[in-house]
Amino acid sequence: MCGIVGYIGHRDAQSIILKGLQRLEYRGYDSAGIALFDGKNINITKTKGKVSDLDNKINNLKFRGSQIGIGHTRWATHGIPNDVNSHPHCSNSGEIVLIHNGIIENYAAIKTELINRGYSFKSETDTEVLVNLIEDIQKSGNYMLGKAVQIALNQVVGAYAIAVFDTKKPNEIIVAKLGSPLAIGVGKDEFFIASDASPFIEYTNNAVYLEDEEMAIIRLHKEARYRKIKSDTLFDPYIQKLKLNIEQIEKGGYDHFMLKEIFEQPKAIVDTYRGRLSVNQGLIKMAGVEDYIEKFLSAEKITVVACGTSWHAGLVGEYIFETLARIPVEVEYASEFRYRDPIITKKDIVIAISQSGETADTLAAIKLAKKHGAFVFGICNVVGSSISRETDAGAYTHAGPEIGVASTKAFTTQITLLTIIALRLAKAKGTISQTNYKKYLVELENIPSKIEKVLEANPGVEKIAKIYKDASNFLYLGRGFNFPVALEGALKLKEISYIHAEGYPAAEMKHGPIALIDENMPIVVIATKYGHYEKIVSNIQEIKSRKGKVICIVTEGDTQVKEIADHVIEVPLSSELLSPLLTTIPMQLLSYYIAVLLDKNVDQPRNLAKSVTVE
Ligand code: G6P
Repeated sequence: MCGIVGYIGHRDAQSIILKGLQRLEYRGYDSAGIALFDGKNINITKTKGKVSDLDNKINNLKFRGSQIGIGHTRWATHGIPNDVNSHPHCSNSGEIVLIHNGIIENYAAIKTELINRGYSFKSETDTEVLVNLIEDIQKSGNYMLGKAVQIALNQVVGAYAIAVFDTKKPNEIIVAKLGSPLAIGVGKDEFFIASDASPFIEYTNNAVYLEDEEMAIIRLHKEARYRKIKSDTLFDPYIQKLKLNIEQIEKGGYDHFMLKEIFEQPKAIVDTYRGRLSVNQGLIKMAGVEDYIEKFLSAEKITVVACGTSWHAGLVGEYIFETLARIPVEVEYASEFRYRDPIITKKDIVIAISQSGETADTLAAIKLAKKHGAFVFGICNVVGSSISRETDAGAYTHAGPEIGVASTKAFTTQITLLTIIALRLAKAKGTISQTNYKKYLVELENIPSKIEKVLEANPGVEKIAKIYKDASNFLYLGRGFNFPVALEGALKLKEISYIHAEGYPAAEMKHGPIALIDENMPIVVIATKYGHYEKIVSNIQEIKSRKGKVICIVTEGDTQVKEIADHVIEVPLSSELLSPLLTTIPMQLLSYYIAVLLDKNVDQPRNLAKSVTVE
């Protein structure tokens, strides 16, 4: 769960790598390092902390002008975040330099063997073991670096995306991939290496995404050579044309990526349904679903596997699918699903939801589902990601890059996509009336403008944030379709403000959380018009009788809740089914403003990472 960047070419490697690492900090940001080589001298700088700390450290040392280099931003797995454990790591001779994203599971056995052969280790990392294994193989067989890397990778168990070079051969970088992503940007007389394409989009739109067990030998002024690690065969890569542009990965005037992404939601939702929804014709068209419609229609059940916010979107999906298409749905944490013995057969459909498309547990759950013969459908945001390649079919959310670690637009676009699929199936199955079908299509099309209205109420949410920013605990309550939204609201607050928060189905409050309520407890309640409104009003009364502070999300024009709640935030009227797309917005804003007021790092909260590629 780290970010890697490499460069070989005619530009200044240092600035390309540092800028690239900053774009990859969503993958981890507890330490960073860079190795720069000018053909004669190698400079390695590493530091605990963020890429900006590395930048400060390196600028004091001035290594400008190197045209080959590799860099790394880390999310610690083996060994605490400190300077020594940071990448790049060098072999004992100091000649081979390597960066690694992934985990070498059998590193301990290899380390013991290398120690017996006279090697010593400075760090606690599995990566230092790998670089010395490569050196040992290279020396004992007198191999070229590429061959030594290939032999070493055939001995390791685990996951890797690596970039490695040998100071004895200054014009060459070797890269390889298994389990962790690796993209190669192909420019004119230059190559870029990165965990995703964002570090090189301003230089080239030609990218090669390595598949598992593939490697490339990248040489200056020559064609790169691509090779299968196991079978040793050469292959011609598929060069993909990138559509990403630089504006998409910059803050565009917002203070934080998270705020930008919250405000991007109306557009992101339009991008999700564009070309798929024709309200005038009453049509839904999605290639990934059309091609497999029989499978969907004959499915005995749907199991959703996902993690984090995507899991919450899956829960909303359960309500939507069961209501509209009358197909039984189970929603499982991918991390649990992969290690139990789930009852999955070839009559089942598994839907894997993932913003990044790289989450290790979700990938493993997909592999298990496929082993059981299930048809696996992916819902991902990142185009070309591992999950999008591993699934049998799927659809992209097209939300654009999500950089803030706390997920926002991914959530609402996942729900949008799930709604579109459920409507398509409901129509085909005849479980929805023509009137309701049409009603939902129209309503979905109008959701973006309703979100715009919610976003306009932004200053009101900021005021509420000021009042409650110092609370130690929060409760979030919702019912029906909005129960998962309560879970997501609580998760957002925990993630970025570090305030303890719990989401609950409102009626379950009396079975435990009610004991926590006193005058210091803020409780966010979703109390929109449709969906058990009267019941929720009773729950609010119960809270008020215990002096809790109630912040309610209500439908525009509500008077009853306004009377009893301490604060209300209005959202436009909608059906209960689509209301999560609206009610989630004030919760995102509330967490955002509380975190900003508490001076937390909103886009890069402590201990978290955007893309969790370790289990
Ligand atoms: C991490 C992120 C969350 C995300 C979860 C699942 O924990 O911080 O924001 O929801 O992973 O990620 P995915 O990319 O699979 O949706």
